[in-house]
Amino acid sequence: MGHVSTGIRRVLEHPFFYEALQTAVGHKVARRMVIDEYVRPEKNSMILDIGCGPGKMLEILSDVEYVGVDFNESYIESARELYAGKGKFFVSNATSIDLPEDEQFDIILAYNLMHHMEDEEVIQLLDSSKKFLKKGGRLISMDPCLVLDATLFAKILIKFDRGTSIRSAEDYSSLAKKSFEKVESNVRYDLLNFTYPHCILSCFK
Ligand SMILES: C[S@@+](CC[C@H](N)C(=O)[O-])C[C@H]1O[C@@H](n2cnc3c(N)ncnc32)[C@H](O)[C@@H]1O
Repeated sequence: MGHVSTGIRRVLEHPFFYEALQTAVGHKVARRMVIDEYVRPEKNSMILDIGCGPGKMLEILSDVEYVGVDFNESYIESARELYAGKGKFFVSNATSIDLPEDEQFDIILAYNLMHHMEDEEVIQLLDSSKKFLKKGGRLISMDPCLVLDATLFAKILIKFDRGTSIRSAEDYSSLAKKSFEKVESNVRYDLLNFTYPHCILSCFK
């Protein structure tokens, strides 16, 4: 598994501390940028958010039908308390998404998820996601990525991330191309409060 939840990093398994760190580094703004520039949901779009954490995407998404899944039960409990009535949340592993197969979505989000998964797990995630996407639907992912010109600060953050499978943009893309014929990749350095490399994939069904 590419996710470490032991030692000092265990504290981030608690929704409060997790979101405090996310806010401090700038993920509130980053989520909005990804939604506005890449996801661009329409009114009533059906959205499945895999690795949804404590459900903070719902601070940004409105007028959509939202389902969030995550394998951390405390995140899902917190999301259910905070966003009851705005979305549905389920505990599920991303490698075998535990939803009825007739549930079909316009957009699947994997925001900051794939770097928590080994290659085999990502392949399972993408294969099972594809089953839940409508024809013409898209999977949008966003993850930290390895670049040659990363700052020292970015390199330190990458080293201590709970996700131990941070890859190059090319490696994220090649994994996605095993399941999706059309994959667009963008590397951005401007999503957080400081220069930090992220890879955003748009995978089209
Ligand atoms: C960096 S957090 C991102 C959370 C959320 N997308 C957000 O915007 O805050 C990564 C999330 O992926 C979840 N996760 C990691 N591996 C998973 C897996 N195999 N199945 C389900 N969830 C997973 C973690 O529990 C965590 O909530």
